[in-house]
Amino acid sequence: MRTLHVIGIGAGSPEFLTLQAISGLSAADCVVALDKGDAKADLLALRQHIVDTHAPGTPIVAVVDPPRDRNPHDYDAEVRRWHAERARLLADAIRSNSADDGHVAFLVWGDPSLYDSTLRIIEHMKNLENLECEVVVTPGITAIQVLTAAHGILLNRISEAIHITTARKLPETSASDRRNCVVMLDGGAGWTQDFTEHTFMWWGAFLGTPQQVLRKGYVKDIGEEVAELKKQLRAEHGWIMDTYLLRELD
Ligand SMILES: C[S@@+](CC[C@H](N)C(=O)[O-])C[C@H]1O[C@@H](n2cnc3c(N)ncnc32)[C@H](O)[C@@H]1O
Repeated sequence: MRTLHVIGIGAGSPEFLTLQAISGLSAADCVVALDKGDAKADLLALRQHIVDTHAPGTPIVAVVDPPRDRNPHDYDAEVRRWHAERARLLADAIRSNSADDGHVAFLVWGDPSLYDSTLRIIEHMKNLENLECEVVVTPGITAIQVLTAAHGILLNRISEAIHITTARKLPETSASDRRNCVVMLDGGAGWTQDFTEHTFMWWGAFLGTPQQVLRKGYVKDIGEEVAELKKQLRAEHGWIMDTYLLRELD
């Protein structure tokens, strides 16, 4: 049976790769890269660097996500069609680049359990394409851990809950969940909405990379300035990834 290694590579630095990740990668006959159309040149370069360093010569097989109709007449049917097409492309790539008992690696940014669809896509592929395989997941360092380490802070205060959400969900997040709340996938500056005079923010962009930028302070004081900084950084690099922790300090 084939083994699919879903390997968390950490969010940012090649030094985040664990020994377990390196051993999974070294065992692979090929690396399958799911190109969801948002892959940035710097991220692709990091993936190539990791393969060149730890498994030189291992081919990277890019599977481009098939196009999807975002406003279909029949939404469910279109999603089913899209999943099936993606599963077929992926299974074809795996079958033609590895033996029946071979090893295939998927390199996942950060950790595979956090806002990543690789495991879901593999599940579709197993169900729809009958690909017999064992899935081995290697945990990776998430952007959240890189953020808290960079600022030298705890993720929670004593026995306090932690809420993790996306910027899209932030406006509907309750005041109690916002007391200690990590926000990811923010295309704008979600922190500038609905803050109180006690809302403190620890913010980080390009975490773990040489371009890392950190800011911290009360949102009322630094919120607008960080929003402006984010625009400038996006213009400078052509893309940006940021993560932040909002906490009520009252
Ligand atoms: C699709 S999610 C992937 C999360 C990833 N699986 C993880 O474990 O961190 C992408 C989001 O993660 C966060 N992120 C990932 N890498 C980051 C980095 N190096 N610096 C800042 N934020 C990052 C951003 O919020 C970004 O919008």
